[in-house]
Amino acid sequence: MSMWEAEEKVARGLAGVVAAVTRISHIDGEKGELSYCGYDATELARNSSFEEVCYLLLHDELPNARQLAAFKQQMLDNRQISPALLELLRNLPGAPKPMDALRTAVSSMSATDSSPSDVSRSANMRRAIRIISQMPTIVATHWRLRQGEKPIDPDPSLGHAANFIYMLFGRAPRDIEARFTDMAMILMAEHGLNASTFAARVTAATLADIYAAFTTAIGTLAGPLHGSANAEAMKMLLEIGSPDKVESYIRGQLMAGKRIMGFGHRVYKTGDPRAMLLREVLATMDGEVGNPRWLSMAMEVEDQAHRQKGLYPNVDFYCAPTLYSLGFPMELFTPLFACSRSVGWAAHILEQYDDNRVIRPDAVYKGAPRRSYIPCEERK
Ligand code: CMC
Repeated sequence: MSMWEAEEKVARGLAGVVAAVTRISHIDGEKGELSYCGYDATELARNSSFEEVCYLLLHDELPNARQLAAFKQQMLDNRQISPALLELLRNLPGAPKPMDALRTAVSSMSATDSSPSDVSRSANMRRAIRIISQMPTIVATHWRLRQGEKPIDPDPSLGHAANFIYMLFGRAPRDIEARFTDMAMILMAEHGLNASTFAARVTAATLADIYAAFTTAIGTLAGPLHGSANAEAMKMLLEIGSPDKVESYIRGQLMAGKRIMGFGHRVYKTGDPRAMLLREVLATMDGEVGNPRWLSMAMEVEDQAHRQKGLYPNVDFYCAPTLYSLGFPMELFTPLFACSRSVGWAAHILEQYDDNRVIRPDAVYKGAPRRSYIPCEERK
């Protein structure tokens, strides 16, 4: 087989390659459906809580009332970060961006693991719950230190999403703010072999520890083609400024060969159900919290991106004005995504450890033909 013939077999970006068997989630790209362990993700977002969805994704089944209470307690018990981690956040060199600080902080958690040699499933599950529970505390603590404010301890009377808002802003959120943040977190909790989850599985497959796998995932999510697209989408909405400027803006971007952030998807061909639900949330929000202009602006962008390039919005697009309306600073959009996706990463890392083989694809070599080494002094 010639090199050119071989190259035709390369699946660029691994598109269409099946790399794992999973019980965690299923995406039907044609129908635009996403399910977590068999349950429609949008139905869970409407009816469930982030904690309940965490339990589902980690244990494959929804909890009964007793199991849910025990799981919530376990998350509460793990929310507080260690004094060592607080010191690390205080003393990070330079002024790292929130995702960089989160990556470094989670990586450092291996140092305070009380039983690093225990690689049993139960030990890894405990570690996963510790990381998931502490990630919002890390993000909020770093954010407040960065603003020159005192960090706020977690409030055990608040749910996971509400407590995150409290630790960030120092006030108990209104019910609607907590509810919509919780919904957004459920919708971002898991999404099959997306880039960050796949990266986490690659790391776990070498039998590196769970902290290494999480660190890989956080680093991968930070890219603008993945988790940072939400902040980029909001910057775009702010840059456009008003609905009457949308048409020419989108045309200009496409003509310049630029991407419309928050649009397109490898798997969804008819639309992303998470984006549709967040659009509904944004519509509900208008008048209560938020500014009605974001809905009309976003819908106009959706219309133009579809007319001009046949693109559909993905979760990041409608997440952007939703989080902005809820008062989250743009720099925290991706860290919030990371806190949500932490549970999907954990479920996939555990699944990888359960039935492991190193992930090691091939590449087609197109470099120089085989040749002999010539000592430096003899080279022309
Ligand atoms: N704006 C303009 N054109 C686009 C876009 C976009 N957002 N997305 C895809 N296209 C075009 C692309 O230019 C190409 O066109 P052509 O065939 O004419 O060259 C075609 O669609 C296929 O694009 P691709 O890059 O091969 O598609 P992909 O499956 O490799 O990439 C994607 C998927 C999500 C990275 C891509 O759609 C994109 O860059 N979107 C913008 C960034 C974004 O919103 N990322 C968030 C993804 S969803 C949540 C998450 O995972 O974080």
